[in-house]
Amino acid sequence: MTLRVSWVVTSIVLSVCAAVAETPPDACVKCHEKEAAPEHVSVHFREQVTCVSCHGGDSAATEKEKSHAGQVRKIARAEVPALCAKCHSDVRLMNPYGIATDQFAQYQTSRHGLKLAEGDQDVATCADCHGAHGIRKVKDPESPVFPKNVPATCARCHADADLMKRHGLKSNAPKDYGESVHAKLLEKGDLSAPTCITCHGNHGATPPGVRDIIHVCGKCHVKEQELFSQTKHFALTEKGEFQSCVTCHRNHLIRTKQEDIRKSCKLCHGDETDPARIRFTSIFATIRGAEALFQGAKDRVQRLGHAGIPVDEEEALLEEAKTGVLRLAPMQHTLDESKVLATAQEAEATISEINRRLDGKERAESWKKKSILPIWGFLLGMAGLFWLKLGRIKKEAA
Ligand code: HEC
Ligand code: HEC
Ligand code: HEC
Ligand code: HEC
Ligand code: HEC
Ligand code: HEC
Ligand code: HEC
Ligand code: HEC
Ligand code: HEC
Repeated sequence: MTLRVSWVVTSIVLSVCAAVAETPPDACVKCHEKEAAPEHVSVHFREQVTCVSCHGGDSAATEKEKSHAGQVRKIARAEVPALCAKCHSDVRLMNPYGIATDQFAQYQTSRHGLKLAEGDQDVATCADCHGAHGIRKVKDPESPVFPKNVPATCARCHADADLMKRHGLKSNAPKDYGESVHAKLLEKGDLSAPTCITCHGNHGATPPGVRDIIHVCGKCHVKEQELFSQTKHFALTEKGEFQSCVTCHRNHLIRTKQEDIRKSCKLCHGDETDPARIRFTSIFATIRGAEALFQGAKDRVQRLGHAGIPVDEEEALLEEAKTGVLRLAPMQHTLDESKVLATAQEAEATISEINRRLDGKERAESWKKKSILPIWGFLLGMAGLFWLKLGRIKKEAA
């Protein structure tokens, strides 16, 4: 019994020692410093996945011939996914780490995986995205698949014009994405912004189909999706004749300004006299009008605040109006003039109320200023009289 307990304790101690060992046990590293160099970051080495786990060979031998032992393998690109899957598709092996086991299965359905299976050596394998040596945890900010590093990882191939041309693809996705509102957010460290894999998936990397796009964008822009679903464009999307959000906003270099978005209308709506486009122009006249009124009121509240007039109540109303004005841009996705107009009128009513109150305050203020003048006049007059009187008293005394 005691013997058993001490055996258990010893084996725990031994395994802990092995786990914290800084260097991998393989003698291979004696000659292969390059591959072993980032050992301190390798999630594999820490878990005793070492050179021989992937390449074979004799881990104890120190001479090349014995070490390679006729079995050390160079790993061909086509072999990589199956090699990684040996462990990563094994539920029993991965469970203790809480790591999913579907990467290989998904990969095989992606364009990358399908093409690799056809013998195409250009596509991404597991090692192109994660590295082969010094593989880091995906949550490690230095990992090539950490959100802010993903665009650069994909760009290694997807910005290569010759490589992409060979496959009938354009090479501008990384550059276009890089200039988008989404990339700007990501650069600021905002992880709520989409990277390439948010829209394309990581292991199942495929271009979203026409019908999927709405779900891709709508995952985050829920309100816009809901309002867009009320339009005829949505019905066309269902039939595959309209690319939902992407028709107007594009996929990578997102258009954000109404003036730019308009460029896509003429594809189907002819010239500026098309009723649909007239309606659109009118919707935007309403929105820009409300925005201008809001800005005017905001400037006025600030000006009076600086002049020392109390404007707390007006500032609260301004917040209310702001909420209304901010609802206009999402609301125009319905393409329904009356809904936009109703929202605009609500905000404009609040703005009128603010202006009405400010008019009152300004009037009171100017009265105050005016009533001060006679008081000063009276005081100055009194001071003058007093001075004259004082002079006369002094003269009389002399
Ligand atoms: C005594 C030095 C030495 C040791 C120990 C050693 N290697 Fe090598 N290995 C070399 C040299 C030199 C080359 C490059 C020349 C060649 O291709 O044979 C090489 C090449 C390789 C290659 C590329 C094979 C190819 O066909 O291009 C792999 C993979 C490799 N070694 C893995 C290992 C592994 C795994 C171990 C440990 C089990 C190991 N090596 C131990 C010296 C060593
Ligand atoms: C998780 C699996 C894995 C482990 C562990 C691993 N390698 Fe590799 N190694 C690979 C893969 C995959 C490639 C091919 C890289 C590629 O395709 O980009 C490779 C390439 C190599 C090459 C270059 C061979 C060539 O293609 O010219 C050498 C040398 C090598 N590994 C040695 C080592 C040594 C030494 C260790 C231990 C320190 C080690 N590897 C650990 C998977 C592994
Ligand atoms: C096109 C690039 C790409 C390829 C190819 C790729 N991965 Fe990944 N992988 C990623 C990205 C990106 C993430 C991180 C996903 C995230 O942040 O949610 C990831 C995450 C992972 C994780 C962590 C998952 C978890 O549940 O924590 C593992 C393990 C993994 N990949 C293994 C593999 C294996 C094995 C292969 C090959 C069969 C592979 N990957 C191929 C990009 C790739
Ligand atoms: C011999 C088994 C084995 C092989 C082969 C293997 N791995 Fe792993 N891998 C593991 C284990 C075990 C872990 C968990 C380590 C941990 O989380 O501490 C792991 C972790 C990872 C992680 C980190 C996941 C996370 O939690 O962020 C990635 C990424 C990864 N492996 C990619 C690969 C790639 C790519 C290959 C092929 C080139 C590969 N692995 C081959 C056993 C293996
Ligand atoms: C090692 C190079 C390489 C890397 C890295 C790579 N790809 Fe690819 N990818 C390719 C090649 C080559 C193709 C074209 C395959 C074909 O002929 O259909 C492709 C195809 C695609 C497609 C399908 C496009 C279409 O319409 O056919 C998507 C989507 C894609 N990759 C996304 C990504 C994403 C996202 C990443 C980064 C997480 C990435 N790729 C990383 C080489 C790569
Ligand atoms: C906000 C979502 C989103 C992001 C982020 C995104 N894409 Fe796309 N991507 C799409 C959509 C949607 C399509 C399909 C467009 C179409 O069919 O016209 C697409 C198409 C593609 C295609 C195939 C079409 C082609 O010829 O260009 C590739 C390759 C691609 N994207 C790569 C990338 C890469 C690489 C990144 C990161 C640098 C990225 N994408 C970021 C949504 C996105
Ligand atoms: C992972 C979440 C996510 C996905 C997916 C996503 N976005 Fe975004 N997007 C954001 C965030 C966060 C912002 C910045 C905050 C905001 O304005 O909503 C943003 C901003 C925008 C803006 C600019 C808003 C402004 O205030 O000017 C537009 C337009 C946009 N996205 C369109 C799209 C389109 C089209 C798609 C699909 C092709 C898409 N987004 C996919 C998260 C996402
Ligand atoms: C791919 C073709 C296509 C593009 C691009 C397109 N539309 Fe349409 N749109 C249609 C069709 C088809 C209808 C339905 C016409 C009908 O039923 O009379 C429609 C209907 C409309 C309507 C009436 C909506 C309703 O719910 O009744 C408006 C407004 C409109 N479009 C505005 C625009 C604007 C603005 C743009 C550019 C930003 C645009 N469309 C781009 C095809 C398109
Ligand atoms: C018919 C063209 C059209 C379609 C389709 C469209 N949008 Fe818009 N979107 C616009 C216009 C126009 C603006 C306002 C730009 C401005 O204020 O100058 C806008 C603004 C936005 C904004 C920023 C303002 C806000 O709502 O916060 C987001 C985010 C957005 N759209 C997302 C989407 C998403 C997601 C989809 C698909 C579900 C989509 N849009 C479909 C034309 C469109």
